[in-house]
Amino acid sequence: MRLNIVRVSPRYSRSYPVFIGSGILGELGELLASHTDLEPSRCLVAFQGPVASLASKASSSLEGFCRAVDEYRLPDGEEAKSLERVLELVRYMHDHNYSRSDIVVIVGGGAASDAAGMAAALYKRGIPYINIPTTLLSMVDAAIGGKVAVNYGGVKNVLGAFYQPSAVVEDVDTLSTLPWEEVLSGLGEIVKYAYTLNAKLHRMLREHGVNVAKKPSLLADAIVEGVKSKARIVELDEREEYGVREILNFGHTFGHALEAATGIRHGIAVAWGCVVEAWAGVKLGYTPERVARELEQLVESMGFPKPGLPSFERLEALMRRDKKVRGERIRGVFTLAPGRGAVIEVMLHEYLEAIRWGASRVWGDKREQH
Ligand SMILES: NC(=O)c1ccc[n+]([C@@H]2O[C@H](COP(=O)([O-])OP(=O)(O)OC[C@H]3O[C@@H](n4cnc5c(N)ncnc54)[C@H](O)[C@@H]3O)[C@@H](O)[C@H]2O)c1
Ligand SMILES: [Zn+2]
Repeated sequence: MRLNIVRVSPRYSRSYPVFIGSGILGELGELLASHTDLEPSRCLVAFQGPVASLASKASSSLEGFCRAVDEYRLPDGEEAKSLERVLELVRYMHDHNYSRSDIVVIVGGGAASDAAGMAAALYKRGIPYINIPTTLLSMVDAAIGGKVAVNYGGVKNVLGAFYQPSAVVEDVDTLSTLPWEEVLSGLGEIVKYAYTLNAKLHRMLREHGVNVAKKPSLLADAIVEGVKSKARIVELDEREEYGVREILNFGHTFGHALEAATGIRHGIAVAWGCVVEAWAGVKLGYTPERVARELEQLVESMGFPKPGLPSFERLEALMRRDKKVRGERIRGVFTLAPGRGAVIEVMLHEYLEAIRWGASRVWGDKREQH
């Protein structure tokens, strides 16, 4: 498969390449040598347990590029995303005398890049880092855009920074060991792009459904399209100053609440969030009914597991804490047509009512209390 390069050119940061291809992890050193101006003497490969063998592959490939390659194992999943764990990584760099011309190479999903990216942002006011996402979700979303963060005081992503990577290397072959639930989670974000930003992804999903993730060539195309959509928004609104980046939040108001109340994987909650928010858009007059109907059928046919519906009171309490709430109003994200979304400020109580209507449509009478 050919190598695709998508460039991200954010307003406040240097532009960087996203490499997407098959088997490119073994060429990591050459890719960085030929496409970046980094000249590190040390590379620190930070990784999580389930991708240890991918991390060693990255390390070997970096041998010609850096004079010394060290490996650092992060705790797995969200465990890595605490200030304490980030400071342990910072301490490692400090004790080993890392300088600002050295680099951190992060191998893993969004949790690894959020946490180790945060350490890279803090250490010496910023040491360059490379993202090597190994989950579908991080390939199309978390690894691009420079949001790094940890959880604090029981709140997700509340401490963080905007700090862009110097390059992102996405080898689709690394996904072969990813559990199916995690693949679906990534597909949830792809559904989101399909109904707000990317008509090509919409056509692919309509035509191939969940097979988009099963056939390597389709998957690589879908990843390229997802990366392009994310990159475009990051370029327009790197630091969420203009309300443009909010479009990426389609499906996330209901989705985050569903995720918090049920514990299902983020992107799976987002897929159902897209469905419910599309119906809310119908109720409020922004979304054509046929679009919501089609989106619901798509999510059902792709086999996203559907959790029981928690009590609406619980969901509503969670949605009231959404970052798009502005007093009595909310900046709602709606799909207007496949590939086209919009952020529209509406009254919060009307929005919640529309969401409630949408959710009871999607769950029918089978409401469960949690
Ligand atoms: N910074 C952003 O813009 C952004 C965007 C979206 C999500 N996020 C964050 O990303 C995190 C979720 O990321 P995620 O969905 O990638 O999950 P994750 O990072 O939690 O990874 C899920 C699990 O899969 C394992 N794994 C990763 N790659 C694997 C592979 N190839 N084979 C087998 N196992 C593998 C991980 O080690 C982990 O156990 C959340 O913390 C979320 O807040 C950040
Ligand atoms: Zn998301």
